[in-house]
Amino acid sequence: TILTLDFGSVALCTRKMPQKRYTHLITRRLRELNVYSEMLPCTQKLADLSWKPKGIILSGGPYSVYEEGAPHVDPAMFELGVPILGICYGLQEIAWHHGKNVVAGTEREYGHADLQAKRFNGHVDKLFHGLEDDLKVWMSHGDKLGALPPSFHIIATTKNAPFAGIAHETKPLYGIQFHPEVTHTPRGIKLLENFAVGICQAKQDWTMDKFLDKEVARIRALVGEKGQVLGAVSGGVDSTVAAKLMHEAIGDRFHAVLVDNGCMRLNECEQVKKTLTEHLGINLTVVDASDLFLDGLKGITDNPEAKRKFIGSTFIDVFEAEALKIEKAAANSPKAGKIEWFLQGTLYPDVIESISFKGPSATIKTHHNVGGLPERMMNGQGLKLIEPLRELFKDEVREMGRKLGIPHELVMRHPFPGPGIAIRVLGEVTREQVAIARKADYIFIEEIKAAGLYDQISQAFAALLPVRAVGVMGDKRVHQQVISLRAVCTTDFMTANIFRFDWDFLERVSTRIVNEVDGVCRVEYDLTSKPPGTIEME
Ligand code: XMP
Repeated sequence: TILTLDFGSVALCTRKMPQKRYTHLITRRLRELNVYSEMLPCTQKLADLSWKPKGIILSGGPYSVYEEGAPHVDPAMFELGVPILGICYGLQEIAWHHGKNVVAGTEREYGHADLQAKRFNGHVDKLFHGLEDDLKVWMSHGDKLGALPPSFHIIATTKNAPFAGIAHETKPLYGIQFHPEVTHTPRGIKLLENFAVGICQAKQDWTMDKFLDKEVARIRALVGEKGQVLGAVSGGVDSTVAAKLMHEAIGDRFHAVLVDNGCMRLNECEQVKKTLTEHLGINLTVVDASDLFLDGLKGITDNPEAKRKFIGSTFIDVFEAEALKIEKAAANSPKAGKIEWFLQGTLYPDVIESISFKGPSATIKTHHNVGGLPERMMNGQGLKLIEPLRELFKDEVREMGRKLGIPHELVMRHPFPGPGIAIRVLGEVTREQVAIARKADYIFIEEIKAAGLYDQISQAFAALLPVRAVGVMGDKRVHQQVISLRAVCTTDFMTANIFRFDWDFLERVSTRIVNEVDGVCRVEYDLTSKPPGTIEME
């Protein structure tokens, strides 16, 4: 096991995730190498660790090592004798520990840099083993080393960073100023492999099966023999995988609730119900609250945020009422105990801030991406959060889903937002408008599947625009609505490019929609990438 100590590395900004922390990328890359890594806060005391790591990685972080109150690693870690790799802040931390010569840089260095690896005999060479001497790397730092710490060598430089890589003469201590864990450092994975496998000799026997076993065991230990868990499902990949995992761990002591908000896709509710109960054996309650949602959405004409807020709070009301019913019923069961846990299918990219350290200068709070989580249930009724997918990325969740026997169509399903079609009907949401968008969406997705394109596209949907255009249908002049089609490719949903259909395909979809969907006389294709657009239209 490699121990990754998290200093709370900050890397990307998006609309909904103002600050993302990317230390988990290191553990993700190690998992890609089949190496098991445990991530712990940077303040972890060695004495409190019940196992001995094969090696330690110190992550990047937003602090300055020389600041009062900046986080520092337990000095005992350096005495353990296992290899240590410091990344960015981690490099500065190693230098700080070996002479404290770290200073504020005159300029922040951010972005691509050309790195020159310097070859030495012996262990200092091992980190760049098998790599070219010239490497493209990604830098993101403000501070730098003032001088080389005693007994260290320079093993890499860039134009602006004379100490881009350092290694101790005799001890297995390495520091690099750049980020090998991000894809902008194309050969970074090889460097991490050199460290974890070559230098630390970590075993490459970590698989999704083992991850599953460990997670099931962890859930059982956490929830106990009688504990019960409640969770919302949407029919999406994440909540389904999380639900199936809970079912594997505790069977019917997991209660899933599906709230039908009247804005789901065509036949979706029935399909989800069938798959979850019949195929996956999950204990599911479906609540039809469509009237409540659709009646409440009336009159919200030009305010997407108001729509989202209404849907979010109504969801909580409905879910809470259902939860109380389930709790009451559960309380009478002799076999089971109280519902104490709430399941959330949060993935790593949804985690806005992963807690690592609380310092006086940086107020970093523990933050769960609750995305509509019934806060007052959590606090009021003392429910505790359980997030078994918290460390995983989407592709890993899909792999887990396959291992759990979830059908291919569901595992590969495009994401669908909680507010559903309501944020794809621009302007006022009415039953009629939802029906139009729903039918057009169904046709679009049906054609995408028929053309074998579904798995090549990350997300596709039809939206209904709140405008009318003139057309001729039959011999008649019509004044009807406009459908906008959107299809994007992305790996992280934070940036996205449009999918390039061929014209025949688009023409076919357009013809079908205009012919088959009453009230629509035109179809457009949205050509906006993200940014500047977002994936959803509202
Ligand atoms: P945007 O529109 O921000 O969307 O580019 C990025 C991804 O997030 C999904 N999305 C949501 N998912 N509740 C959700 O569960 C929401 O309110 C929501 N809004 C956007 C969107 O579908 C895309 O996959």
